[in-house]
Amino acid sequence: MTSMDALMRSSPVIPVLTVHDALIARPLAEALVAGGLRTLEVTLRTPAALDAIRQMSRVDGAIVGAGTVLNGRDLDACVRSGARFVVSPGLTETLARQALARGIPFLPGVATASDIIRGLELGFDRFKFFPAEAAGGVNALKALAAPFSQCRFCPTGGITQASAATWLGLEAVLCVGGSWLVPERFDADEVFERAKAAAALRAQHCA
Ligand code: 3PG
Repeated sequence: MTSMDALMRSSPVIPVLTVHDALIARPLAEALVAGGLRTLEVTLRTPAALDAIRQMSRVDGAIVGAGTVLNGRDLDACVRSGARFVVSPGLTETLARQALARGIPFLPGVATASDIIRGLELGFDRFKFFPAEAAGGVNALKALAAPFSQCRFCPTGGITQASAATWLGLEAVLCVGGSWLVPERFDADEVFERAKAAAALRAQHCA
């Protein structure tokens, strides 16, 4: 099993995908992988999400995980659908222990020092910083990461192709997450171009 650290280092951007129609799941994953982004997060926010995880997992080279995982029921459902990692907007002891019990790479969301300390107590040091821009942006993460030199982050929430490079310049940042890879109306060529541009970004310390 690939560790969360290795997944975060595998590409500079993790696309956050909210799929409304499972029919586009496979071509969407193919376009992202062809553009150079292999680690894909499908949010559990639509009825099509679990089917999308199944379809995307069949795409060569794709490593598909689930996002917006809020409880043990979500965990079981996405693991059964083939999710290889799990992302949550938050971090509770209950959810973290449930993820540990299932032995699946888990990226919990944090926005405060107390969140991070709770994560460290449970054995985690890789976190989603969420909601990245609304929680104070690059300066907030710089300040928050300073006392926790062992921790690394995937900021997500409000990040764009234009702002990603600044985030990736922080030593504590291994990758960023974002939904900007997919236009409102699905267009495989456009997704491919956006993925290619995103894959060309690189965290200095991951090169
Ligand atoms: C998430 O679930 O991680 C965020 O909603 C993604 O944020 P974005 O749409 O601002 O990229």
